[in-house]
Amino acid sequence: MTETYQQYVEYLQKIADVNYSSAVLQWDQEVNMPPKGAHFRSRQLATLAAYAHELITDSKYGNLLESLRSSATGLGPKECANVLESYRIYAQQKKYSTAFVTELNLCVSASFHAWQQARTKKDYSIFMPHLQKLIDLKRKEADLLGYEQHPYDAHLNLYETGLKTSFVDKLFEGVRNKLVPYITQLLRKQQPEDNFLFKFYDKDKQWNFGLYLLRQLNFDFDAGRQDISAHPFTTNFSADDVRVTTRISENDLFEMIGSCIHECGHALYEQGLPSDDYGLPSGEYLSLSIHESQSRLWENHVGRSRAFWNHNYGYLQQQFPSQLGNISAEQFYKAINRIKPSFIRTNADELTYHLHVLIRFEIEKEILAGKLDAKALPEVWNAKYKEYLGIDVPSADKGVLQDVHWSHGSFGYFPTYSMGSFYASQFFHFASKENPDLMHHIENGNMMPLLLWLRQNIHQYGRTLLSDELCKNITGEVLNFDYYFNYIKTKYDELYA
Ligand code: CO
Repeated sequence: MTETYQQYVEYLQKIADVNYSSAVLQWDQEVNMPPKGAHFRSRQLATLAAYAHELITDSKYGNLLESLRSSATGLGPKECANVLESYRIYAQQKKYSTAFVTELNLCVSASFHAWQQARTKKDYSIFMPHLQKLIDLKRKEADLLGYEQHPYDAHLNLYETGLKTSFVDKLFEGVRNKLVPYITQLLRKQQPEDNFLFKFYDKDKQWNFGLYLLRQLNFDFDAGRQDISAHPFTTNFSADDVRVTTRISENDLFEMIGSCIHECGHALYEQGLPSDDYGLPSGEYLSLSIHESQSRLWENHVGRSRAFWNHNYGYLQQQFPSQLGNISAEQFYKAINRIKPSFIRTNADELTYHLHVLIRFEIEKEILAGKLDAKALPEVWNAKYKEYLGIDVPSADKGVLQDVHWSHGSFGYFPTYSMGSFYASQFFHFASKENPDLMHHIENGNMMPLLLWLRQNIHQYGRTLLSDELCKNITGEVLNFDYYFNYIKTKYDELYA
């Protein structure tokens, strides 16, 4: 390894130190911080973010990258991939003027605050002017970053390198033309009984069952821990320190179970990244949709499977004999997979979830194209919920105000949620093909063969390639909606037979 490359590694690891320190403060803010701490915590986080931005846009660092790019002699393929990815991020960050970053940050702070108030008061008009200002800035940002076809591309690219609106359009054509009619068909059938999931379930017992699941899924407690927070999330401070959180509702058993397995899937990915490559692209997650593919794969393909509950239901039943004593494993399996159109994306089932994402995608596309403004948003939102899910949104907090993303200025994030599920199906198809006994192992409580497959095929590569390339390497083609559709069709045809 050349001396210049070594300098680059040290510099990047210093940036990682700053970013992961902010992650610790953010995690603490969600998990431990007393209310009065909020004021100075925002300040501390803003200072660290500004410092990280300064480091990453420093011209001396840019010169270092330039010289590595122009003479790559002595560098292996992984080192070359690191340099190219770092240069891409550097060039992208350089497009933002300090004035723009400041204006955007101020607008985001005000919008987030207004959104919280608006949601509590169920009054969209409190949020609307802030959102409009943010939309204007986001349109400006698309011009600043540049794009070839659609201004929305510039934003998608921030979460998923190279992703185009036209590609997402094609994916969601599958949702519109295949999934929507299939859901309609299932909704006409008799629905499985699921009342028992909403009985009273003691918090401590649920917490212990969650830990039992994390251990079974091979979460490494020497390199992570679980805590409680208002919204479940996963964060990490290195591959050797990964934090998951969960939320326990005493009247909804599967909320904890589902979110626990979901976040564990994210955490297993982080714990599987090469820790020797700390701070380098090769030591970081590939993209948001690949991250979500890991959580959805464990949550849906494992945690909502019959095999998984054949193994675990007896133990769950022992923990809650009065609630589940008369319920069979088969009844439980059907109940946790019931289709139910609902207002809230995060509570949606495995199928209708994508209609929520489709609605947000259509709206964001129109916003960035300059065809839709904040004023008309609730009306458009409610009409789409009627059209796709057949439900009337009762109030703004259950409608247009439910997600935090827009108040943070995140446009282009939502499609990665659905793409994550679709990737999960495509990957799982090939994992099962290569290991015909996979479901059998899961039925015996042995999750290791699947984890090892993911480590070997996905985790070890970090961000040394694009999502498309990873997918082609594993499956021979780019993301294809049909894998997801075939998986759910087989599962739900049988479940609803
Ligand atoms: Co997730």
